[in-house]
Amino acid sequence: MQFSKNILITGGAGFIGSHVIRLFVNKYSSYRIVNFDKLTYAGNLENLKDVENASNYVFEKGDICSSDDVQRVFEKYKITDVIHLAAESHVDRSIEGPMDFVMTNVVGTVNLLQAAKSTWKDSNHVFHHVSTDEVFGSLGQEGLFEETTSYDPRSPYSASKASSDHFVRAFFHTYGLPVKMSNCSNNYGSHHFPEKLIPLVINNIVNKKPLPIYGKGDNIRDWLWVEDHARAIDVIFHNGEIGESYNVGGLNEWTNIDLVRHLCKILDQKLNRESGENEQLITFVKDRAGHDARYAIDASKLEKELGWKPSIQFEQGLEKTVDWYLENTEWVDKVTSGAYQTYYENMYK
Ligand code: NAD
Ligand code: DAU
Repeated sequence: MQFSKNILITGGAGFIGSHVIRLFVNKYSSYRIVNFDKLTYAGNLENLKDVENASNYVFEKGDICSSDDVQRVFEKYKITDVIHLAAESHVDRSIEGPMDFVMTNVVGTVNLLQAAKSTWKDSNHVFHHVSTDEVFGSLGQEGLFEETTSYDPRSPYSASKASSDHFVRAFFHTYGLPVKMSNCSNNYGSHHFPEKLIPLVINNIVNKKPLPIYGKGDNIRDWLWVEDHARAIDVIFHNGEIGESYNVGGLNEWTNIDLVRHLCKILDQKLNRESGENEQLITFVKDRAGHDARYAIDASKLEKELGWKPSIQFEQGLEKTVDWYLENTEWVDKVTSGAYQTYYENMYK
């Protein structure tokens, strides 16, 4: 079959990537979607069971750090566009070992940019780089991150993502590569690896394990439903301006402690436990090194120019997320067996 676009989606077996793949495969039957993923601890093809047999979907195992792997997939599928999500994504792991983050997030991104630059002969293509609000650093009580906010990354993870953003812009300005960029706040939803706050807390409540809160729990994050992030990527990829970046966020700020208390209440009810029983699991632990105080996004450019807005209230999305974890215990058991146990013991000892 002749496809109108052959889109390489990197990191498609991860949390956000699997939602982006699902949306694109189901919505655009004329596009071939090539999922290119190394399948690290965070990548899981189980996340894509429902689309794995679709005629416009194909999986290719590969490492974005290997120019051979990248070149091979560009040639094999005549790649016309890239949506780049592959990354090392967990801040705590970046504190323990920054080098993997430099390799995948910086070297891997430049590798992909090089392949696109050498393959694409005109500007009729899109290289959409998916990034994070963490590149802007940490906010005080007031203000929001705008697209024009200066970069001020403070963790090895955000430094590596900031560096990758700079390379993407450099390829636009220097070589005219047709790039688009998005910087999003914290996502939540199904298939979220339980090293991150929300799925970790849900899993620990189910198993009556302590709920580790870093510091005083007063750090603030802006939470966005992962499917709304996937919808934002869809509109930016199709309608965003070349060379522009777009902030994506939920205008939905929560302190960590309020969020965890809210999860405790939802799960008191769903697990038929006494009211307040789960809150007793809350345990304040040593703070994360260099812990950013507050993230909050001004997404008005995306809303005004491209007509995107979040589709679901946080409380509703959170309840759907909890239900997904309660209904998918096999998925949770699979991803938390083996190496996860060692990670968890080292991290929370
Ligand atoms: P994730 O850790 O769940 O998934 C990352 C995926 O990338 C995995 O499937 C993994 O196997 C793959 N991968 C890692 N290294 C690779 C390599 N060298 N070659 C090929 N594949 C590799 O991450 P996520 O939370 O889904 O984040 C996806 C992207 O979105 C990242 O770029 C992240 O920085 C960005 N982002 C995440 C959030 C969030 O809240 N999770 C928010 C904003 C932006
Ligand atoms: O803002 C976007 C970023 O959001 C993405 O770029 C990252 O890839 C993603 O991991 C996420 O980063 P955070 O560090 O904000 O997410 P995490 O779930 O790790 O932590 C959320 C908050 O909860 C943060 O303030 C640290 C705190 N926390 C986290 C864990 C895992 C705890 O208090 N206890 C925990 O056990």
